[in-house]
Amino acid sequence: MTLMKSPESAMPPKVFDAMQSARSGLAELKDKTLFRRQRKSESACDTHQTFNARSFSTFCSNDYLGLANHPLVSQAARDALSVYGVGSGASHLISGHHQAHEELGQRLAMFQAAHIPRVKSLTFSTGYMANLGVITALCALPKVTSLDTGETKDFTRIYSAQLNHASIVDGIRLASKQSNVELCVFDSSALSTLRSALECDTSGHKLIVCDGVFSMDGNLGPVKELLDLATQHDALLLIDDAHGFGVLGEQGHGILEHLDLHSDRLIYVGTLGKAAGVFGAFVCAHETLCEWIFQKARPYIYTTATPPSLAMATLQSLNIIESAEGHARRAHLNLLIQTWRETLKFKHWQTPPSHTPIQPVVVGDNALCLKLDEALQSMGYLIPAIRPPTVPLGTARLRVTFSANHTVQEVKTLAGVLMDLESQHSSS
Ligand SMILES: Cc1ncc(COP(=O)(O)O)c(C=O)c1O
Repeated sequence: MTLMKSPESAMPPKVFDAMQSARSGLAELKDKTLFRRQRKSESACDTHQTFNARSFSTFCSNDYLGLANHPLVSQAARDALSVYGVGSGASHLISGHHQAHEELGQRLAMFQAAHIPRVKSLTFSTGYMANLGVITALCALPKVTSLDTGETKDFTRIYSAQLNHASIVDGIRLASKQSNVELCVFDSSALSTLRSALECDTSGHKLIVCDGVFSMDGNLGPVKELLDLATQHDALLLIDDAHGFGVLGEQGHGILEHLDLHSDRLIYVGTLGKAAGVFGAFVCAHETLCEWIFQKARPYIYTTATPPSLAMATLQSLNIIESAEGHARRAHLNLLIQTWRETLKFKHWQTPPSHTPIQPVVVGDNALCLKLDEALQSMGYLIPAIRPPTVPLGTARLRVTFSANHTVQEVKTLAGVLMDLESQHSSS
């Protein structure tokens, strides 16, 4: 957030109700240790970065494969800038849809072609917008009339995993305002409630939504079991694989490749600002469903298309993800994860059972988590505290993440630092 100074002569502003409320709301956030701040980076995204003129070893980005500052990806963006300029100039449906977006969509569809028949893809500006657009579009599917009873069922029931990302939660909230939607939140670690709810569901359409990799815990969603349930109960299954795309699967195609799943009921959302190292997101689905999303997703229709240079940079990043270099980067990442899990031993703090580059250290208390964040900063580490409402109450954590650019030694050293911190702070 940037603060502009008022001119000297300006009158002090009169305090009106909204300003007064904002002040007391902000004071309350500070009291509850929920006040958020941002840091200013002065260097490219990498495992060592400068913030406010200080150098840090960072274990917090989503740049899992270390592609955000890869020379070939940066070069592809520079080359494209010299051809296409900076901005796309308009939304996709006016004149902003460039050849580069088209190629990127086709390439992303090819990544999921073994898993979704007749797959097509649509690119979005961000993952947040993709989830808003896809969920609202699917909830706007026309009513269905039962061939047997002639009864029209005009509502959609959404089954959403409890720990799904905020963009899914917000997509459902928005869909509920626009369409006739009922929500059922399920625990992804115990699917019996979901199973019983599906058995007595009489809705027109059913949509199950789950993260492929939970962003704050790092564990995988029960995607195979969910697909079985979706098939048995005639539901669609939307998987948000923001943290699996590029990382999971032999070729980095994501969780559907990792679990070898196939179905025309699958709607796959991936993001391009995490392992792919660039920016943006996409959805892959059967061509009919994709066409419906294209026609109906307002966050796709009513926004300026992303710069074509980013699409070109992403195409280069996809080349790397599928190449021998991509394989080697994933293999190294897995070595880092294994080293971490073998080295780190806590007495009190929790490490959820994750085998992805997201390796949180759950300490529980907000104030303690902030203290640890500061202690780590004083030692030259950047691992920001993650507190509610981003994570459930009482589960404040250091969200440690790895990049293929980290070394094994760096990971071992950090594990030692955290174990020392636990022995110093576990009684506080
Ligand atoms: C699971 C999940 N979905 C969607 C998003 C949003 O993606 P984007 O950052 O591209 O808006 C995130 C971002 O962190 C995420 O973790």
